[in-house]
Amino acid sequence: MAHKILIATGGGDCPGLNAVIRGIVKRAAQENGEWQIFGCIESFNGILKDDVEIVPLNESMVSGLHVKGGTIIKTTNKGGPFHFPVRQPDGSWKIEDRSQLMKKRFDNMGFDAIINIGGDGSQRISLDLLNIGIPVVGVPKTIDNDLSSTDFTFGFQTAVQIATEAIDKLVTTAESHNRVFIMEVMGRDAGWIALHTAIAGGADVCIIPEIPYNPEAIAKKIETRYKNGMGFCNIVIAEGAKRVGGHVVGKAPTAVGDQHIKLGGVGDVLKQELQELGLEHDIRVTVLGHLQRGGTPLAYDRILATEFGVKAFELVKEKKYGNLVVYRHPNISYVPLEEAVKEPHLVKPDDFLVKAARGVGVVFGDETSQ
Ligand code: F6P
Repeated sequence: MAHKILIATGGGDCPGLNAVIRGIVKRAAQENGEWQIFGCIESFNGILKDDVEIVPLNESMVSGLHVKGGTIIKTTNKGGPFHFPVRQPDGSWKIEDRSQLMKKRFDNMGFDAIINIGGDGSQRISLDLLNIGIPVVGVPKTIDNDLSSTDFTFGFQTAVQIATEAIDKLVTTAESHNRVFIMEVMGRDAGWIALHTAIAGGADVCIIPEIPYNPEAIAKKIETRYKNGMGFCNIVIAEGAKRVGGHVVGKAPTAVGDQHIKLGGVGDVLKQELQELGLEHDIRVTVLGHLQRGGTPLAYDRILATEFGVKAFELVKEKKYGNLVVYRHPNISYVPLEEAVKEPHLVKPDDFLVKAARGVGVVFGDETSQ
């Protein structure tokens, strides 16, 4: 009888997810029919729901998929096997632990292993599944690039490219109108997208979650530019940024099973802070939002995602469960899930990228004098 692998994609979507799925399916297809691959629809909801939704995946279904953004097997960043939201007869919701039900179904359906493609939250679920006896291999995913055990996650380069193209466009309009533009990008805890975009796009100011900002330092940079005849200014700010002594800007989650605050609006807050400091220039705010997660992955991300897919299959074949596939230049390798979720990959204020940005005059908002 053929071996069976169940694939799930969890958390926010990300360019390259489909290329991972294709990599797994195509690699498995080279095993003379010994392996069958299935997709669990909408992360683990497909196996947790009352009406199970699991689809077989074959080579023809994944043909050309490396080019397509999103995930053909859907995703969610709410709930999960240990916190599954169930609607009650009175219309309210109750969070249930359905992990044992999942284990039972997994065993009854004859699966050998799960390949869970997701970010830190999803890989914590991988670890918990492993601990109840479900063999799991993880594949790291996030546009934020905030997983510490891999040099890069797929999707990140695409997000940076999208943001860079956006700032290139904002620069010409800022220049034409002598405006200050604040571009808000994704980055919940880690400022990698903002930092890379600021350097690639030649921004004047870069605000990231790891370096709390002083509006005064930013106002000073803006005024200096205007005084020196550079009559415009471009600022990149990560959605998870906060001012010194302040807190992140967003809304409390409203969706059932969602544990994250919905970040957004820090660009507007910064605009107001700058105006309160007396800045009279025209300030405009652009929020890139989910544009950064959509569309076709760059070649780099397609390649990395394909490598991850092939490696994930091979780890399952070798029964090397409990590991996360990682990229550690120049190799695609793996680390124990436990190690992988220990700490996030954040920008350190002394990283050379920060130094390089400061070296070309980028201000981070923590400067005491300029
Ligand atoms: O984790 C990736 C990410 O894009 C974060 O940068 C962002 O805060 C979050 O997902 C937003 O997710 P959603 O809008 O899907 O809830």
